[in-house]
Amino acid sequence: MMTCLQNWPEPVVRAQSLSDSGIRVLPERYVKRPADRPLSLDLPSSDVNIPVIDLQNLSSGDNSLRATTLSLISGACRHWGFFQVVNHGVSHDLMTRAREVWREFFHLPLEEKQVHANSPATYEGYGSRLGVQKGAKLDWSDYFFLHFLPESMRDENKWPSLPPSCRELVAEYGKEVVKLCENLMKVLSVNLGLGEDYLQQAFGGDDVGACLRVNFYPKCPQPDLTLGLSSHSDPGALTLLLPDDDVSGLQVRQGDNWITVKPVPNAFIVNIGDQIQVLSNAAYKSVEHRVIVNSVKERVSLAFFYNPKGDILIEPAKELVTEERPALYPPMTFNAYRALIRTEGPRGKLQIDSLKSPP
Ligand code: OGA
Ligand code: NI
Repeated sequence: MMTCLQNWPEPVVRAQSLSDSGIRVLPERYVKRPADRPLSLDLPSSDVNIPVIDLQNLSSGDNSLRATTLSLISGACRHWGFFQVVNHGVSHDLMTRAREVWREFFHLPLEEKQVHANSPATYEGYGSRLGVQKGAKLDWSDYFFLHFLPESMRDENKWPSLPPSCRELVAEYGKEVVKLCENLMKVLSVNLGLGEDYLQQAFGGDDVGACLRVNFYPKCPQPDLTLGLSSHSDPGALTLLLPDDDVSGLQVRQGDNWITVKPVPNAFIVNIGDQIQVLSNAAYKSVEHRVIVNSVKERVSLAFFYNPKGDILIEPAKELVTEERPALYPPMTFNAYRALIRTEGPRGKLQIDSLKSPP
């Protein structure tokens, strides 16, 4: 049985408070094993970037442009699990305002933020760790986590009351990014050879879930020894990440390499979550990613997680299961899957790999 702790196993220390205190030496709790540290060797900066895809052509009347865009997305889902989208329909001004209001939130005095301090029971609110293993190594970041969908789980009173425009902006931003997620779900469905509404329906139709995690990565005194967020794959269906505009940090695994994503102005970074890996019977992979930090600039990112309804069973689509390619995963609810992750914290792809049916 999964244990659901009501409280953190140790007193919570905010990474931001440590950073602001001006320490020069990274506390031991944040020092990762050598194998998990970012490469300290200064590699020549690579030209490789995840694909950048213009969504405008999807709605153009020109069928061949539409087909080309669909196939670019298909390739990105199969080979990268990650891509950036431009001309996605979300107002650039809204994106900037949403990111900047959260930056302001993190710069409020600690007491204001502490009002929203979270616990592992729901994770909602202001937090500084994922996972409840006592003595675990910690990541160099703080975050704010909130529920957006289903509406029955949305409680704006749990969202920051300051800055004064925060709640309204989150509501407006959430509405817009949900629309984009719905569109992307259709595109992925069609690309998988399923009906346009297949994925949405399989994930709960009108009852899908969505959460926002705003990550704050403070300046770090010894960035080569730690990570802002340890390697993980996202547990849900699809993630839309709004990165900071002038500091990078997200790295995506490609084989044995970590590719640092170069954010394109006004783009969203899209990535496939574990539940689409399950539903697609691993045609699409949820790819491991992590965040590196630096000593010069803080970084803010908004990760919007589009998730299946919590209590329905997710399993490989029958259409994608054949004799040659039997179902790789047994049915499991998202609630059960998420409980696993919330106990252990980020652990690469171990969670989804552990689901695999024996051959
Ligand atoms: C996440 C995540 C990446 C980033 O929140 O799951 O992967 O760049 N964030 O902050
Ligand atoms: Ni992630």
